[in-house]
Amino acid sequence: MDNTFEPKNIIVTGGCGFIGSNFVRWVAENHPETHITVLDKLTYAGNPKNIAGLPDAQVELVVGDICDGELLDRIVPGHDAIVHYAAESHNDNSILDPEPFVQTNVMGTYRLLQAVRKFDVRYHHVSTDEVYGDLALGEPRRFEPGDPYRSSSPYSSTKASSDLLVRAWERTYGLRATISNCSNNYGPYQHVEKFIPRQVTNILCGIRPKLYGTGENVRDWIHTEDHSRAVWDILTKGTIGETYLIGANGERSNIDVLREILSLMGQPQDAFDWVRDRPGHDRRYAIDPTKLEEELGWRPLHKDFSEGLAQTIEWYRTHESWWRPAKEATEAKYAAQGQ
Ligand code: NAD
Ligand code: TYD
Repeated sequence: MDNTFEPKNIIVTGGCGFIGSNFVRWVAENHPETHITVLDKLTYAGNPKNIAGLPDAQVELVVGDICDGELLDRIVPGHDAIVHYAAESHNDNSILDPEPFVQTNVMGTYRLLQAVRKFDVRYHHVSTDEVYGDLALGEPRRFEPGDPYRSSSPYSSTKASSDLLVRAWERTYGLRATISNCSNNYGPYQHVEKFIPRQVTNILCGIRPKLYGTGENVRDWIHTEDHSRAVWDILTKGTIGETYLIGANGERSNIDVLREILSLMGQPQDAFDWVRDRPGHDRRYAIDPTKLEEELGWRPLHKDFSEGLAQTIEWYRTHESWWRPAKEATEAKYAAQGQ
C-alpha cells in the first residue's frame, strides 16, 4: 500500500526561527507545489529576514502566538498539515526563566493539538533528543526510539511534556501525528546565543570564545538541511503514531568543536576562556538513526562536519548585518551569569 502523503498547503509554526526557516526555505526550493503558511510570534529568536525573498505566492507569514486558540481556529482550516517547530529553544534561558517554556512548549502544543483535532489535519511534531536525558561519556549506547524519557533541564522537560501530549492525543483521539527527536543542529540563521554561532561571532568581534565546565560534554551534530530533509520524509512517508530519531553520526566534544572553529578561523588553540558550567549540564547526546534510515531511506548529505562547519563560519562572516543586532544584548546576558 502506498502511504505517501502529498501536502499541498502546510502551516509551519516557528518558521522564522533557525530550524523552521531552514525547513521553509528547503520546502520552497524543493517542493514548489506546496504552499506554506508560517505562523510565528517573532520572539527575540524569530526574524522575518530568515524567510525573506521567497515567492509571495508560495510563502505567507502570519505573525501570531500558537497559544492563541481563536487565531488557530481562523487559520488552520484549509490547510492539510501542520509542522510544529515553534518553541522556546535555549537551555540557558530555561534555567533563568522557565515560564515562557512552559507556556509556549506545553500550552502552545496543547492548543495546536486541539486545533488539529478539530480540523482533522496531519500533524508533525518537531522535538529534541534531549527528552531522553543524557548518556555517560564514552559509553557505546546511543538513544533509540523506545528509550524512557529522562529529561533534565526545564527546556527539555517542557519538550518531553509536549511529546507526551502528542502521543496521548494520537492514541486517544486518533490524531494523524508523527514525532521526530533530532540531535543538535548547526548551519545558517542560528541565533548567536547558541554554542557554534556564539563562538564564531565572538571571534569575529574580537571577544574570546567561552567554554562551559570541562568542555568534555558531547553533542551529536547534524546540518540543519539534513534535519529538514528528514522531517519532509517523515511528514510524507512516515507511519502515523511513530517516533523517528534524526541524527547524522556527528558526535563531538565541545572542546573539539571549539578547537576546530579556532583553527578554521586562524586563532591559537588556547584563545578561549573557561567559564562557569551550566547547572545540570547534560554530558552526552547521541542518536541511533537506524529506524529513519531503514524505514524511510533517509541518509545525511552533509557527512563531513569540518566542511559544514567551515561553510557555517563563512555564512556568519558574510552575514554580519543579520547577527550583529542581537550580539551585544546576548553577551551582556551571558556576562551577568558569569558565562
Ligand atoms: P529558535 O529559538 O531558533 O526558533 C523558535 C521560533 O519559534 C522563533 O521564530 C520564535 O519566534 C517562534 N516562537 C516562539 N514562541 C512562539 C509562540 N508562542 N508562537 C509562535 N511562534 C513562537 O529554535 P530552533 O533552534 O529553530 O528550534 C526549532 C524547534 O526544533 C524547536 O521545537 C526545538 O525544540 C527543536 N529542536 C532544536 C534543535 C537545535 O539544535 N536547535 C535540535 C532538535 C530539536
Ligand atoms: P547549546 O548550543 O546551548 O545547545 P544544547 O544545550 O541544546 O546542547 O550548547 C551546546 C553545548 O555547548 C552544550 O554542551 C553547552 C555548551 N556551550 C558552551 O560550552 N559555551 C557556550 O557559550 C554555549 C552557549 C554552550
